[in-house]
Amino acid sequence: MKLLIIYGTTEGQTRKIAHFMEAVLKNARHQVTIADTTADPPSPKEYNAILIGSSIHVHKYQTAVKHYIKKYLAELNQIPSAFFSVSLAVASGLEEENQEVQKITNDFLEQTGWKPMMTTQIAGALKYTEYDYFKRLIMKIISKKQGGATDTSQDYEYTNWDDVTKFTNNFANKASQKS
Ligand SMILES: Cc1cc2nc3c(=O)[nH]c(=O)nc-3n(C[C@H](O)[C@H](O)[C@H](O)COP(=O)(O)O)c2cc1C
Repeated sequence: MKLLIIYGTTEGQTRKIAHFMEAVLKNARHQVTIADTTADPPSPKEYNAILIGSSIHVHKYQTAVKHYIKKYLAELNQIPSAFFSVSLAVASGLEEENQEVQKITNDFLEQTGWKPMMTTQIAGALKYTEYDYFKRLIMKIISKKQGGATDTSQDYEYTNWDDVTKFTNNFANKASQKS
Protein backbone atom coordinates (compact mmCIF):
# COMPACT_ATOMS: atom_id res chain seq x y z
CA MET A 1 0.00 0.00 0.00
CA LYS A 2 0.96 3.62 -0.52
CA LEU A 3 0.68 5.31 2.89
CA LEU A 4 1.00 8.90 4.03
CA ILE A 5 1.99 9.96 7.56
CA ILE A 6 1.31 13.58 8.54
CA TYR A 7 2.24 15.02 11.93
CA GLY A 8 2.34 18.21 13.99
CA THR A 9 4.82 18.69 16.83
CA THR A 10 6.34 21.32 19.10
CA GLU A 11 9.20 19.56 20.89
CA GLY A 12 9.68 16.68 18.46
CA GLN A 13 8.11 13.67 20.24
CA THR A 14 5.27 13.33 17.72
CA ARG A 15 7.87 13.51 14.91
CA LYS A 16 9.81 10.71 16.60
CA ILE A 17 6.62 8.59 16.86
CA ALA A 18 5.71 9.33 13.22
CA HIS A 19 9.17 8.22 12.04
CA PHE A 20 8.90 5.09 14.16
CA MET A 21 5.56 4.30 12.46
CA GLU A 22 7.21 4.91 9.10
CA ALA A 23 9.86 2.28 9.96
CA VAL A 24 7.19 -0.21 11.09
CA LEU A 25 5.26 0.24 7.84
CA LYS A 26 8.36 0.03 5.65
CA ASN A 27 9.32 -3.15 7.47
CA ALA A 28 5.93 -4.54 6.39
CA ARG A 29 6.88 -3.57 2.79
CA HIS A 30 4.57 -0.59 2.43
CA GLN A 31 5.53 2.52 0.51
CA VAL A 32 5.54 5.46 2.95
CA THR A 33 5.68 9.24 2.63
CA ILE A 34 6.04 11.30 5.80
CA ALA A 35 5.53 15.04 6.23
CA ASP A 36 5.35 17.73 8.90
CA THR A 37 2.15 19.79 8.63
CA THR A 38 4.20 22.99 8.74
CA ALA A 39 6.28 21.99 5.69
CA ASP A 40 3.86 21.99 2.75
CA PRO A 41 2.48 18.46 3.26
CA PRO A 42 1.05 16.58 0.24
CA SER A 43 -2.65 15.94 -0.36
CA PRO A 44 -3.96 12.51 0.73
CA LYS A 45 -5.37 12.07 -2.78
CA GLU A 46 -2.63 9.85 -4.24
CA TYR A 47 -2.48 7.53 -1.21
CA ASN A 48 -4.32 4.35 -0.17
CA ALA A 49 -4.35 5.28 3.53
CA ILE A 50 -3.23 8.02 5.92
CA LEU A 51 -2.09 8.37 9.53
CA ILE A 52 -2.27 11.82 11.14
CA GLY A 53 -0.72 12.66 14.50
CA SER A 54 -0.64 15.67 16.76
CA SER A 55 0.58 16.50 20.23
CA ILE A 56 -1.55 18.35 22.76
CA HIS A 57 -0.34 21.64 24.20
CA VAL A 58 -2.51 23.53 26.69
CA HIS A 59 -5.52 21.29 25.90
CA LYS A 60 -5.26 21.86 22.14
CA TYR A 61 -3.95 20.03 19.10
CA GLN A 62 -1.50 21.67 16.70
CA THR A 63 -3.13 24.41 14.61
CA ALA A 64 -1.33 23.27 11.43
CA VAL A 65 -2.81 19.76 11.84
CA LYS A 66 -6.29 21.22 12.17
CA HIS A 67 -5.73 23.29 9.01
CA TYR A 68 -4.51 20.23 7.10
CA ILE A 69 -7.57 18.22 8.08
CA LYS A 70 -9.97 21.03 7.17
CA LYS A 71 -8.23 21.62 3.83
CA TYR A 72 -8.36 17.96 2.78
CA LEU A 73 -11.49 16.83 4.62
CA ALA A 74 -13.28 15.41 1.55
CA GLU A 75 -10.20 13.37 0.48
CA LEU A 76 -9.55 12.22 4.06
CA ASN A 77 -13.01 10.85 4.55
CA GLN A 78 -12.69 8.77 1.38
CA ILE A 79 -9.68 6.65 2.38
CA PRO A 80 -8.87 4.56 5.49
CA SER A 81 -7.36 6.92 8.06
CA ALA A 82 -6.20 6.97 11.67
CA PHE A 83 -5.46 9.66 14.24
CA PHE A 84 -2.73 9.34 16.86
CA SER A 85 -2.93 11.77 19.74
CA VAL A 86 0.23 12.47 21.77
CA SER A 87 -0.07 13.86 25.30
CA LEU A 88 1.19 13.60 28.83
CA ALA A 89 -2.22 13.09 30.41
CA VAL A 90 -2.40 9.47 29.23
CA ALA A 91 0.95 8.73 30.87
CA SER A 92 -0.56 9.37 34.29
CA GLY A 93 -2.78 6.28 34.28
CA LEU A 94 -5.44 8.38 36.04
CA GLU A 95 -8.98 7.79 34.83
CA GLU A 96 -10.00 11.47 34.95
CA GLU A 97 -6.89 12.47 32.94
CA ASN A 98 -7.71 9.78 30.34
CA GLN A 99 -11.28 11.02 30.09
CA GLU A 100 -10.15 14.63 29.72
CA VAL A 101 -7.79 13.83 26.88
CA GLN A 102 -10.38 11.61 25.16
CA LYS A 103 -12.79 14.55 25.30
CA ILE A 104 -10.18 16.78 23.60
CA THR A 105 -9.88 14.14 20.85
CA ASN A 106 -13.65 13.72 20.45
CA ASP A 107 -14.25 17.49 20.32
CA PHE A 108 -11.44 17.93 17.80
CA LEU A 109 -12.84 15.26 15.47
CA GLU A 110 -16.33 16.68 15.79
CA GLN A 111 -15.12 20.21 15.05
CA THR A 112 -13.14 19.17 11.99
CA GLY A 113 -15.67 16.67 10.62
CA TRP A 114 -12.95 14.08 10.07
CA LYS A 115 -14.03 10.47 10.65
CA PRO A 116 -10.90 8.35 11.09
CA MET A 117 -11.29 4.57 11.08
CA MET A 118 -9.11 4.34 14.21
CA THR A 119 -7.79 6.65 16.93
CA THR A 120 -5.21 6.06 19.64
CA GLN A 121 -3.81 7.86 22.68
CA ILE A 122 -0.02 7.77 22.94
CA ALA A 123 1.98 8.98 25.94
CA GLY A 124 4.58 11.59 24.96
CA ALA A 125 7.63 12.93 26.73
CA LEU A 126 8.67 15.47 29.32
CA LYS A 127 11.66 17.34 27.93
CA TYR A 128 12.62 19.44 30.95
CA THR A 129 16.15 20.10 29.64
CA GLU A 130 14.75 21.64 26.43
CA TYR A 131 12.11 23.89 28.03
CA ASP A 132 12.74 27.50 28.95
CA TYR A 133 12.44 28.49 32.61
CA PHE A 134 8.72 29.25 32.47
CA LYS A 135 7.74 26.09 30.55
CA ARG A 136 9.85 23.97 32.91
CA LEU A 137 8.03 25.42 35.91
CA ILE A 138 4.57 24.89 34.39
CA MET A 139 5.37 21.34 33.32
CA LYS A 140 6.74 20.50 36.74
CA ILE A 141 3.46 21.64 38.33
CA ILE A 142 1.37 19.67 35.80
CA SER A 143 3.54 16.57 36.18
CA LYS A 144 3.34 16.73 39.95
CA LYS A 145 -0.46 16.91 39.77
CA GLN A 146 -0.46 13.80 37.57
CA GLY A 147 1.96 11.91 39.81
CA GLY A 148 4.75 12.17 37.21
CA ALA A 149 8.44 13.04 37.32
CA THR A 150 9.53 16.33 38.92
CA ASP A 151 13.34 16.11 38.73
CA THR A 152 13.91 18.76 36.06
CA SER A 153 17.57 17.91 35.53
CA GLN A 154 16.61 15.18 33.05
CA ASP A 155 14.07 14.23 30.35
CA TYR A 156 11.45 11.47 30.54
CA GLU A 157 9.95 9.47 27.69
CA TYR A 158 6.66 7.70 28.40
CA THR A 159 5.92 6.43 24.89
CA ASN A 160 5.16 2.70 24.79
CA TRP A 161 6.85 1.64 21.55
CA ASP A 162 5.30 -1.86 21.56
CA ASP A 163 1.83 -0.32 21.63
CA VAL A 164 2.79 2.03 18.77
CA THR A 165 4.00 -0.96 16.72
CA LYS A 166 0.77 -2.88 17.38
CA PHE A 167 -1.43 0.09 16.50
CA THR A 168 0.47 0.80 13.28
CA ASN A 169 0.37 -2.82 12.07
CA ASN A 170 -3.27 -3.14 13.04
CA PHE A 171 -4.15 -0.02 11.07
CA ALA A 172 -2.18 -1.17 8.00
CA ASN A 173 -3.93 -4.55 8.06
CA LYS A 174 -7.40 -3.03 8.35
CA ALA A 175 -6.63 -0.42 5.68
CA SER A 176 -5.34 -3.13 3.28
CA GLN A 177 -8.63 -4.98 3.60
CA LYS A 178 -10.57 -1.82 2.73
CA SER A 179 -8.47 -0.43 -0.14
C1 LIG B 1 3.70 24.03 27.27
C2 LIG B 1 3.17 22.62 27.26
C3 LIG B 1 1.81 22.39 27.43
C4 LIG B 1 1.30 21.09 27.45
N1 LIG B 1 -0.03 20.90 27.64
C5 LIG B 1 -0.51 19.63 27.73
C6 LIG B 1 -1.90 19.41 27.97
O1 LIG B 1 -2.71 20.33 28.06
N2 LIG B 1 -2.32 18.12 28.12
C7 LIG B 1 -1.45 17.06 28.02
O2 LIG B 1 -1.87 15.93 28.19
N3 LIG B 1 -0.14 17.24 27.75
C8 LIG B 1 0.35 18.50 27.60
N4 LIG B 1 1.68 18.71 27.34
C9 LIG B 1 2.55 17.53 27.16
C10 LIG B 1 2.84 17.25 25.69
O3 LIG B 1 1.68 16.79 25.03
C11 LIG B 1 3.96 16.20 25.62
O4 LIG B 1 5.14 16.76 26.15
C12 LIG B 1 4.22 15.70 24.21
O5 LIG B 1 5.23 14.72 24.25
C13 LIG B 1 4.63 16.84 23.28
O6 LIG B 1 4.76 16.33 21.98
P1 LIG B 1 5.58 17.13 20.86
O7 LIG B 1 7.03 17.11 21.28
O8 LIG B 1 5.38 16.33 19.61
O9 LIG B 1 5.00 18.49 20.77
C14 LIG B 1 2.19 19.99 27.29
C15 LIG B 1 3.56 20.23 27.10
C16 LIG B 1 4.05 21.51 27.07
C17 LIG B 1 5.53 21.73 26.86
